[in-house]
Amino acid sequence: MIGAIGIGDISRVISHSPDKKLNERIGFMKSIPASLAQSLRVSGQSHLLSFLDSLNPVDYQRLVGQLMSVDWPLIRNLVSTGFTVVEEGEEDFEPPVAVRANGEGVAWSISDAEDAGVTALRAGAVAAVVVAGGQGTRLGFEHPKGMLPIGPVSNRTLFQIIADRLKATGLRYGVKIPLYLMTSDATHQETVSYFSSNNYLGLDPSELVIFKQGTMPAVDISTGLCLMAAPNSLALSPDGHGGTLAALQKNGCLDDAESRGVKHLAYIQVDNPLAQLCDPVFLGHHLLSGSEMTTQVVKKRYPLEKVGNVVRVGEKVRIVEYSDLPEHSAKQTNEDGELRFWAGNIAVHLIELPFLRRSLTQADLLPFHRAFKQVPYVDRSGQRINPSEPNAVKFERFIFDLLPHAKNALVVEADPAFAFAPVKNAAGSETDTAELAKDACSNLHKGWLERLGITVAEGVRVEINPLFALDMSELATKVSRDQEFLEDHYFCS
Ligand code: UD1
Repeated sequence: MIGAIGIGDISRVISHSPDKKLNERIGFMKSIPASLAQSLRVSGQSHLLSFLDSLNPVDYQRLVGQLMSVDWPLIRNLVSTGFTVVEEGEEDFEPPVAVRANGEGVAWSISDAEDAGVTALRAGAVAAVVVAGGQGTRLGFEHPKGMLPIGPVSNRTLFQIIADRLKATGLRYGVKIPLYLMTSDATHQETVSYFSSNNYLGLDPSELVIFKQGTMPAVDISTGLCLMAAPNSLALSPDGHGGTLAALQKNGCLDDAESRGVKHLAYIQVDNPLAQLCDPVFLGHHLLSGSEMTTQVVKKRYPLEKVGNVVRVGEKVRIVEYSDLPEHSAKQTNEDGELRFWAGNIAVHLIELPFLRRSLTQADLLPFHRAFKQVPYVDRSGQRINPSEPNAVKFERFIFDLLPHAKNALVVEADPAFAFAPVKNAAGSETDTAELAKDACSNLHKGWLERLGITVAEGVRVEINPLFALDMSELATKVSRDQEFLEDHYFCS
């Protein structure tokens, strides 16, 4: 396993020439690189040095390490452009052109797509990228979301479900599929411990890279000044899943993938136990269309469902967040009563490695989105403030903003019962809870069994580990049709 890079490389910090005037004040042992002091002055953020006098050497080094890792010209630029949310030019949005779940919309068949996908998988040309840096605040779970038990009968965690699927796919196609798992400051340590103390969930550790995404400072809404979480620390938050690009590169994952002959990255979020990671049909559509980035969508269940809206603007594919599509547009219907903007983002993408490399050469390709949040901070006197309403702006990049830049970007529809069971909200919410996701997993597997002529009694939950059967046709070879299940049952090998 390739380790992640630690916070604040101090040797790098103190090797810079010191800022004389400032250092007279704070003392020789706490020298500040002149370039840092200058960057902070130019960006109007010198207040961040005001606690330095009071810090012990360890805290001092921590803070300077953080300050050194921030792109100050970028912060200056983001603050100077203001925080007003620009209304989208929604009149330009059109529903996307998509390969439908039944295969309509392209010249090749589903089985052609499957063949192409299988060939790429067998050649070892596919790696998985899973993003698990979010803090799962809405879920109210105190550990990384990936550690949430979600198997409807087995109680396997989200991480285990992903690992089993990857292992089963690798076994079927005679390869080991590398997994690049992205965490954040908030989830990294616990995730690494979880994997290492659970035998890497059955994965080969040499095929697993757990790496940390970057951070961005939160700034005060009214002044644009960066907030401090404590006298020895900036208020930092993850830089969004768009940070995956830079983090993959910084942690050597792109070089690692290339050295293994990987050409296509299969990307999912950790919070969907039904995500069809490395599905050969989806992969085949992507390959046969010559797409640089393909996204899987489902029909939205209701107009204001909290999923991104996949739209077309001219020839480009774009995703407009649910919060950014005006309600009247979200509710528009066609003559047949179907939603006009029907395509919901389930955050399952395929990305060509050379496209990702090319995107990294354009620093500003992915815009920063602004989120207004309550961020606790210390004021100038060192007193901790817990705001009761949004006081800060957080900056995040979204990986799906790559879509408009991809050649031949493609949209492929999947059946939600087969591919989407989001886990977002705490128990008791109406939508997207763990219990609902468990039901969705059980219902999918129950459907397979019933189609094979097997009876599953009302109210009984079933669960099929992909290592037992990855799909219904494999299941058909392993079960006898005259069975009846009157109690919960977990099929595992
Ligand atoms: C996200 C999508 C939405 C989509 C929905 C499907 C965004 C902005 N929106 O909504 O279009 O319909 O999922 O479930 O993504 N993450 C990181 N690092 C970060 C931020 C997020 O790894 O800095 C990961 C989280 O761990 C999580 C995923 O990205 O797995 C989604 O993030 P979240 O903020 O929960 O997005 P949603 O609002 O659920």
